[in-house]
Amino acid sequence: MLLSAAKQARENARPDYSGFKVGAAVEDSEGRIFAGCNVESASYGLTICAERSALFTAVAAGASAFRRVVVVTAADKLTPPCGACRQVMWDLCRDVEVTLANLHGATKTYQLSQLLPEPFDAKSLD
Ligand code: THU
Repeated sequence: MLLSAAKQARENARPDYSGFKVGAAVEDSEGRIFAGCNVESASYGLTICAERSALFTAVAAGASAFRRVVVVTAADKLTPPCGACRQVMWDLCRDVEVTLANLHGATKTYQLSQLLPEPFDAKSLD
């Protein structure tokens, strides 16, 4: 299932500087699941978050429409996606369901439009 895929990917995270492991998984419109984790760089800005890792992996495998995204960390307070990941989720998934989860069983589900209420996209360029 989606959450276990995200937890498994989180184990492979490379938070070499922050120590903060994140896992994510996305489900496409065919029910296929793709997972990702954060991978950090000594040049901090080159770090990729778990959400974008999962989504870019999915795109590389041919996925183009998405139903759900799950993000999991060990934090007691559920970890919200960063602004860059919210934008890329909007770019690739539009108003997808986003579930935040931790290792203690807490979850909270949003629509992406709740997390990114005024999205920037192609319509903004009209
Ligand atoms: N991180 C994610 O992977 N996803 C998020 O939505 C929040 C932040 C990562 C980036 C970095 O490797 C670490 O968490 C600390 O910011």
